[in-house]
Amino acid sequence: MPSLPTPSPAAAAHSQRLQQHIRDEIARCGGWISFARYMELALYAPGLGYYAAGATKFGAAGDFTTAPERSHLFGRTLARQVAQVLTETGGDVLEVGAGSGKLACDVLLELQRMDALPARYAILELSATLQARQREQISAQAPQLLERVQWLERLPQSFSGVVLGNEVLDAMPVHLVTRQQGMLLDRGVSVVDGQFSWQDQPLNTGALQQAAAALDLPAGYLTEINLAAPAFIASLAECMTRGVLLFIDYGFPRAEYYHPQRNQGTLMCHYRHHAHGEPFFWPGLQDITAHVDFSAISNSTPDLQLLGYTSQANFLINCGITDLLAQTSPEDVARYLPLANQAQFLLSPAEMGELFKVIALGKGVEMPLLGFVRGDQRHRL
Ligand SMILES: C[S@@+](CC[C@H](N)C(=O)[O-])C[C@H]1O[C@@H](n2cnc3c(N)ncnc32)[C@H](O)[C@@H]1O
Repeated sequence: MPSLPTPSPAAAAHSQRLQQHIRDEIARCGGWISFARYMELALYAPGLGYYAAGATKFGAAGDFTTAPERSHLFGRTLARQVAQVLTETGGDVLEVGAGSGKLACDVLLELQRMDALPARYAILELSATLQARQREQISAQAPQLLERVQWLERLPQSFSGVVLGNEVLDAMPVHLVTRQQGMLLDRGVSVVDGQFSWQDQPLNTGALQQAAAALDLPAGYLTEINLAAPAFIASLAECMTRGVLLFIDYGFPRAEYYHPQRNQGTLMCHYRHHAHGEPFFWPGLQDITAHVDFSAISNSTPDLQLLGYTSQANFLINCGITDLLAQTSPEDVARYLPLANQAQFLLSPAEMGELFKVIALGKGVEMPLLGFVRGDQRHRL
């Protein structure tokens, strides 16, 4: 375990309250909960979980940075793909897991510039504190567009248009499974001497067992299985009449995700810009994530068709990020240089360009999507 910054007494006390909440749940459940339930509580327990309480989370003062936090270019470029779909399908935008609200601002403002605004920009966000932050952000950056924004408590009964989600699927709770001595095991959490402790249980039945058995894991292999994300995509498909789902996240197709050499999985925690692998470290004060198995997302439901899957770099280039950059003259060094650095961060294979992927799934949409028209035959599901 690397040495990590010590939390303030108030933050430590907050984490202690969440730890007690999780210990109580473990006791109620007979001494064991799945890791997915632990992760769900650590991130989303009302008023206590990492996303459900007041930690800064995003940006330099928080724990990690996402593409929309890093640059307006991300949302502005994505808006071009959104505009193309809305022109074809009509309807609205629904953003899932809108974080600080920056992506919503950038997409809305660019759609306004393009004269392609939808009547409604809906946001589905689990965290009440983040909903408040999103409202503040939009009121400050795009007050004239606030009346179009609507926060939803649950998925709408019927929706057409574009669904957006950046770094949402990686924040959904994952199960941990391992194969030991020929047996599949569900790695969960118990309490030993008041501390969280790993405990494996045989995995014999149910959806998790079926998903794990299908992977044919080698001996000693430990990995994650995300049942929540494909179920969420299937729920979106049920309420969508016509339109496109666009999800951006870090991850791989199945063969790469469950590669024999990736034998300890991809679970990762982020605490004040330190990445580490210890999810029991100060629960509630750090993010917990796992990479996305994009094959599972693509196969979530037969009701959606795969319209595109490519790297973030290829997607943004196809959507015209370089045209947006070219709107600022290189001679205007003070404005151009930061923008060029941001574009480099979004596009470079050493930064976000290659690890991050974009997947588009659609219903009733036949046209080739702007972001996937050129290049990148290597990205297959
Ligand atoms: C890593 S943050 C990304 C935030 C933002 N999209 C960005 O790129 O900066 C994950 C976000 O997803 C939200 N979230 C996770 N699961 C969700 C779900 N099932 N429904 C709605 N929001 C969810 C979290 O509350 C949080 O806002």
